[in-house]
Amino acid sequence: MTPKYICKYRGAISRQDRENRNHHKAVTLWFTGLSCSGKSTIAHAVEKQLFDLGRQVYVFDGDNVRHGLCRDLTFSPEDRNENLRRIAEMTKLFMDAGIICLCAFITPRESDRQMLRSMHADGDFHLVHVDCPVEECSARDVKGYYALARQGKIRNYTGISAPFDTPQNPELTLDSRNTDLRTCVDQVMHYLTPIIG
Ligand SMILES: Nc1ncnc2c1ncn2[C@@H]1O[C@H](COP(=O)(O)OP(=O)(O)O)[C@@H](O)[C@H]1O
Ligand SMILES: [Mg+2]
Repeated sequence: MTPKYICKYRGAISRQDRENRNHHKAVTLWFTGLSCSGKSTIAHAVEKQLFDLGRQVYVFDGDNVRHGLCRDLTFSPEDRNENLRRIAEMTKLFMDAGIICLCAFITPRESDRQMLRSMHADGDFHLVHVDCPVEECSARDVKGYYALARQGKIRNYTGISAPFDTPQNPELTLDSRNTDLRTCVDQVMHYLTPIIG
């Protein structure tokens, strides 16, 4: 709980001021999907395109925050929830700073996705489901974690020993098994361009 005597300080520069200067809106695109479905690859490719277009953009990646901001957290359901809550609070600050936030986190539970949505103002949060079956993700196994999870050497591994709920109301679904990276990136850009203006 926030103590009563802590009040928000309102600076002279608003989010709108920053968006006006950037010539685009700030939003959050939140990529959900199994490990190895392609969240990081797609988010970073989209980031590069937007950066090259002069947009203010940043990728928040699951693996990176686990090394710092959230290194005290485990992969228990409670800690996964806290991990996501912290990231969302951080990305809200980045949106205040006028930045397009691309978030690449497994986000396996529908309840957590609903929580994230409810933490954001209307129009700020857009869920992108990077849809790829566990058999394909497991075959890609970029970091070899699926193999370790199947051997029981990693516990609570999403898709193997922890659940991944099918996203109920994503704004966008990418079929990253049957659609190549370039097409997935085009689909995100096509969705995002009218939103950021
Ligand atoms: N359409 C696609 N979109 C994204 N990645 C793809 C696609 N097809 C194959 N891949 C491959 O799948 C892997 C996805 O890894 P990564 O982006 O790290 O996944 P995640 O961040 O979801 O764990 C990469 O090796 C990437 O080259
Ligand atoms: Mg990743």
